[in-house]
Amino acid sequence: MARRLLYLSRMDDQAKANEQPALTDKNELRARARQEVSQGAVTRSYGADPEVVCEMLNEALATELLCSLRYKRHYFMATGLASEAVKAEFLEHAKQETEHADRLAERIVQLGGEPDFNPANIAGRSHAEYVEGSSLREMIYEDLVAERVAIQSYTEMLDFLHEKDPVTYDLVRGILATEQEHAEDMVSLLQGLPAADGH
Ligand SMILES: [Fe+2]
Ligand SMILES: [Fe+2]
Repeated sequence: MARRLLYLSRMDDQAKANEQPALTDKNELRARARQEVSQGAVTRSYGADPEVVCEMLNEALATELLCSLRYKRHYFMATGLASEAVKAEFLEHAKQETEHADRLAERIVQLGGEPDFNPANIAGRSHAEYVEGSSLREMIYEDLVAERVAIQSYTEMLDFLHEKDPVTYDLVRGILATEQEHAEDMVSLLQGLPAADGH
């Protein structure tokens, strides 16, 4: 106990010197947690506006749902000699985009928001587009474009979330890493296609 008080007092001195907020006393932390329990996982130390973050995450959710649907369409429509490896990749990505959607929806609920799964809103809210593509090459190309859109938007989200919301930051960073792998997969598939495919 004495050690913690000393620690807090040193933190307080240091915070005054740096003009940064000190750590809150344990009893005050416990009291606040009880008083504001209706806010769930969102406490006073939360550094962002939860409504803004939920809106941002709902746009990402719409993007993931739309991308999953586009990959599914491409999976079923891919034909031709070169299509087997490509189909497997499309299907894997469709599943991973759905997993991303689930993780984003879970975080929206933790922040006190509501995940928007309304089909009427998905295309309007999504960053990426739903392009069917008429050949294997076009499908892969459109998926690469969509992955690049997702990478750009997740990178901007990380800039916004940095030092404000470490949990959402880590979630988005993990998803971003997968989107970068997806983009690389599409580049490899494009390079591996026979020159005559679809054109
Ligand atoms: Fe994704
Ligand atoms: Fe992706």
